[in-house]
Amino acid sequence: MYVSDAIDINEKGHLTIGALDTVSLAKKYGTPLIVYDEDKIRENCRLFSSSMNKYYGNGLALYAGKAFLCKDMCRIIMDEGLGLDVVSGGELFTAASVDFPMEKVVFHGNNKTDNEIIEALKLKVGRFVVDNIEELYRLNDYAKQFGVTQRVLIRIKPGIDAHTHDFVKTGQIDSKFGFALETGEAFDAASKCLSFENIELSGVHCHIGSQIFDFEPFRLAANVMIDFMVKVKSELGATLEELNLGGGFGIKYKDSDEPKEFSEYMKAVAKTVKEKASQHNFPMPFVFIEPGRAIVGAECVTLYTVGSVKTIPNIRTYVSVDGGMGDNPRYILYQSDYEVICANKAALKRTKSVTVAGRCCESGDLIQENTLVQHVKAGDILAVLSTGAYNYSMASNYNRYPRPAVIAVSEGNSKIIIKRETYENIIENDI
Ligand code: LLP
Repeated sequence: MYVSDAIDINEKGHLTIGALDTVSLAKKYGTPLIVYDEDKIRENCRLFSSSMNKYYGNGLALYAGKAFLCKDMCRIIMDEGLGLDVVSGGELFTAASVDFPMEKVVFHGNNKTDNEIIEALKLKVGRFVVDNIEELYRLNDYAKQFGVTQRVLIRIKPGIDAHTHDFVKTGQIDSKFGFALETGEAFDAASKCLSFENIELSGVHCHIGSQIFDFEPFRLAANVMIDFMVKVKSELGATLEELNLGGGFGIKYKDSDEPKEFSEYMKAVAKTVKEKASQHNFPMPFVFIEPGRAIVGAECVTLYTVGSVKTIPNIRTYVSVDGGMGDNPRYILYQSDYEVICANKAALKRTKSVTVAGRCCESGDLIQENTLVQHVKAGDILAVLSTGAYNYSMASNYNRYPRPAVIAVSEGNSKIIIKRETYENIIENDI
């Protein structure tokens, strides 16, 4: 029915996630509450791994931690055998705190600090994705100091615009991430890597965008990347072994969204990589993909309690909830779409158009405008669906609201994976 098959309605007419009653969860843990279906997350991990094995055979899916990371999420990813894409010292520290296997960690970031580089070298992360020439020099220097040779992929802007319907190869030079192909910058970076003693250039990386439904841009990117690898081989004499094609696979936010099956992306991309490599007589690279949103996004709901319903005649009805942009900044940032359901009236038809507002001191603090929900009143529980990616991970303490608790449900049980923040947490770093 609704956006994810983690969601259902029980005999009381209440919304469920992972077969647990969301109204009871709200009562037990309080609101706002972020609820993940752990079993579905694990299923998604397996889907990526099995698609990789089935269609390509020589690769690894890395979970992009920026979508949502905490210790328990690291444990799940570790358990399922995926690698991890981290983009900051904080994400790396989280992974290290649960002994995540560092050889499966890929370290991203367009401005890694000296401390982050040092920490990552100390922890022996498997691969750095180097973003710029200054980073390359610093990394080589630190690797020399540590007496190690660091495995590196260079981040390339492949010139694919995945955000338009007629993706065109223009404008992509204007990105803060990575080395440009068109200017020769990427080639120079590869050449520099090969000249450095403490750098081992193992491959190339690209990431063309996020929430992409079409697989054609991924195929185009793979083509461009292999062309580059072929050029490096013929002109610099180095055969790069690894190709990281990034993340970006789209999920269902609205009932009307129609994302492709994840396995379809893999099938299409694997075909392109195989054809292109054999056409150039280039050895089949080891392929990484980096899904974030597709693993956690749809397997989560956020539960809020309605505090007030304010109807402005002929204008709109505001339904105010006990969360907002602090736990879900995606509407104020991108006007993102969500489905909203009254959890305790889930079996009733959604007939009323309302604007769901947060409680921050900010007019733009909305969760959704003009969205259909059941007839709601104060005390009802509202569920916002598909809030698993880039919600908690982008949460803030604006207005000094504590961040919500995060729980995971699995096989009919629920547990806290991130505690609700307290007022003490809010002031603990204040002097
Ligand atoms: N790899 C790299 C290098 C990335 O930059 C990203 C996302 C991913 C993988 C994972 O992409 P995914 O599979 O999750 O689409 N805050 C935005 C999304 C930002 C994505 C940033 N990079 C949002 O809320 O929609």
